[in-house]
Amino acid sequence: TRKIIIDTDPGIDDAMAIFFAFQAPEIEVLGLTTTYGNVPVEVSTRNAVTLTEIAKVDVPVAMGVSVPSQIKPRPFPDFVHGEDGFGNINWPAPKGKAIDKSAAQFIVDTVRENPGEVTIVALGPLGNLAKALEIDPEVADLVDEVVLMGGTAIEYGNVSPVAEANIMNDPHAADKVFTAPWQVTMIGLDVTHQVLLDNAILERIKKVNPTEGGFLFDCAQFYIDFYSSRFDMSGCYFHDASTIAYVMDPSLFGIELGAVRVACEGIGIGQTIFAPQEMSFPEPYWNDVPMTQVCMEVDSEKLLSLFEETLSK
Ligand code: BDR
Ligand code: CA
Repeated sequence: TRKIIIDTDPGIDDAMAIFFAFQAPEIEVLGLTTTYGNVPVEVSTRNAVTLTEIAKVDVPVAMGVSVPSQIKPRPFPDFVHGEDGFGNINWPAPKGKAIDKSAAQFIVDTVRENPGEVTIVALGPLGNLAKALEIDPEVADLVDEVVLMGGTAIEYGNVSPVAEANIMNDPHAADKVFTAPWQVTMIGLDVTHQVLLDNAILERIKKVNPTEGGFLFDCAQFYIDFYSSRFDMSGCYFHDASTIAYVMDPSLFGIELGAVRVACEGIGIGQTIFAPQEMSFPEPYWNDVPMTQVCMEVDSEKLLSLFEETLSK
């Protein structure tokens, strides 16, 4: 089994990813750490606790950063995830609460307790990961892998022509994560725009698993309506949960190696700039940048079957 920490801003597709991970036999979730992003951090923290209570799992939730490290906060996308982050379904408040430790400190302590064994799955803006590196730079060496949903190498962005939302929400933190000496795997729009989840799948899951399936179906209606009104499609992109499929079965993806850096200002702010391994550039920005695994291809059908099978238990 793979031990993971999920850093997240639930968020409808975050909820899909979290239930997917809870039910995957090959994954042990050590904790959820939260960030602002789809909603303010107080809301994403409450939502993370709610998800552990629905799934009846004993997994700690640690609250993280509430604002970007160096830019002005961007407005919350309530038209995508609803004001509550769950598609405005009026779910009751959870009984439990977050632990008394920051997300970054939880990451550092958990990695130190399990050297070489922890994978961090990041599904939101990357402030908590950057902070963990600041508190304890050596954690980079002690982490197994960082698998993040964010960015795009050649596909258009979703908040600007070149930028994806999670990276745009804290470009400086993202650049720190891509240039630290740990293995980063980027699951960006290049692949998540190839995976389309529709109501037929959610309905089948709901039928056999009314608890998680019913909750996801109810939340997803708002999200699916957003996609159908905005892009004339029937279903939604499968962003965050694609990372869990990667952790379970990396062979679902076609990977290219290269250096990734993030533009931190100007018209290209938030862009993940990808320099393929075989190319070298004289500009100092590109000296000694670690190799990121960038996912460029995906077996979408198999990935969605893995999601459906895993949640249909
Ligand atoms: C990412 O942004 C958020 O809205 C989603 O939860 C996902 O993490 C997609 O760009
Ligand atoms: Ca997210």
